[in-house]
Amino acid sequence: MTQAVSFDITPEKEASKLQFLRRQFFGAPPEVSRHDVDLSGKTAVVTEANSGIGLECVRQLLDLGLSKLIIVVRDEVKGEAARKTLTAAKALEPNQTIEVWKLDYASYESVTAFAQRADDLSPRLDIAILNAGVNRGSFTLNPTTGHEEDLQVNYFSTVLLLLLLLRIFKKTKSTTKPSHTSPGRIVVVSSDMAAWARFDEKNEEPMLEAFDIKETWNRNERYATTKLLGQLFVAEIAKRVSPSLAIINCASPGLCYGLELAREHGTFTAIFIRSFGRSSDIGACTLVNAAVKQDERSHGQYVEDCTLRP
Ligand SMILES: NC(=O)c1ccc[n+]([C@@H]2O[C@H](COP(=O)([O-])OP(=O)(O)OC[C@H]3O[C@@H](n4cnc5c(N)ncnc54)[C@H](OP(=O)(O)O)[C@@H]3O)[C@@H](O)[C@H]2O)c1
Repeated sequence: MTQAVSFDITPEKEASKLQFLRRQFFGAPPEVSRHDVDLSGKTAVVTEANSGIGLECVRQLLDLGLSKLIIVVRDEVKGEAARKTLTAAKALEPNQTIEVWKLDYASYESVTAFAQRADDLSPRLDIAILNAGVNRGSFTLNPTTGHEEDLQVNYFSTVLLLLLLLRIFKKTKSTTKPSHTSPGRIVVVSSDMAAWARFDEKNEEPMLEAFDIKETWNRNERYATTKLLGQLFVAEIAKRVSPSLAIINCASPGLCYGLELAREHGTFTAIFIRSFGRSSDIGACTLVNAAVKQDERSHGQYVEDCTLRP
């Protein structure tokens, strides 16, 4: 079901740190314009949309005329603050609404409860940007699942949510007139760092338990591996799900400053990010492009600076 895509760059070149720096300094992903895409009548959910790149994503979706925006957060107070920020910056159009829904990626119950609520959306859910991601500064085990927290949030809960959303898309498609069913859209937010993952755990048996061992944990390596796993999952699920049901892709915002992701990582990381990072609104352009502009060719693929990349 995935289409063969050719690239103007090899995976090895794409993964090099030099290419990463080139993208950071010279990459200029364009914002999707309303002339190209009008989201009137559509409903979108963006997870972790109360700050950083997620907040910029929802701002851009509203600019494209999105009718119903659902800001998905683990802390509803922060979600309400984000809603106020958005409405203070720009008056909503008469048909536009913003809701704040709770979802804590640390809990499967929370993921399931969120999906049940999304199942009742009317007329239907159209777009999901799975943006939530953490990069813990110290080894932390999730108290309920027992899994290491980066893996829990960035991979396990993300793919559970993706599968539950696919079920919703499938149900909606079966109950909607064929002429009214454009495919659902799911974007899994990834990172340049996925390409640098050593993924040492791949040779361990059992593999999943190897991720929960403190002695072999490394902060950057773990984050990179969780993002790589997300890419591998998207590539595989796309072979099993028709793009006529949902176009599923990964997208990387590039290194962005103004973020909380590195708040646990100290001064050196903060200086590095400020020196080499881009602003969150530029990072968000690629996520929105992957969600609303990339076509079926992006199914199972990776989008960077608004372009399909290996
Ligand atoms: N920033 C970058 O340079 C960069 C680069 C490549 C990829 N990415 C990816 O882009 C996405 C957004 O990154 P960002 O930098 O914008 O994020 P961020 O500013 O670091 O924000 C972190 C967010 O994660 C939320 N969060 C933490 N644990 C959570 C949980 N268990 N359930 C739900 N939400 C939780 C936090 O919520 P609270 O406010 O409640 O704590 C906060 O909103 C992530 O997937 C990240 O991996 C970022």
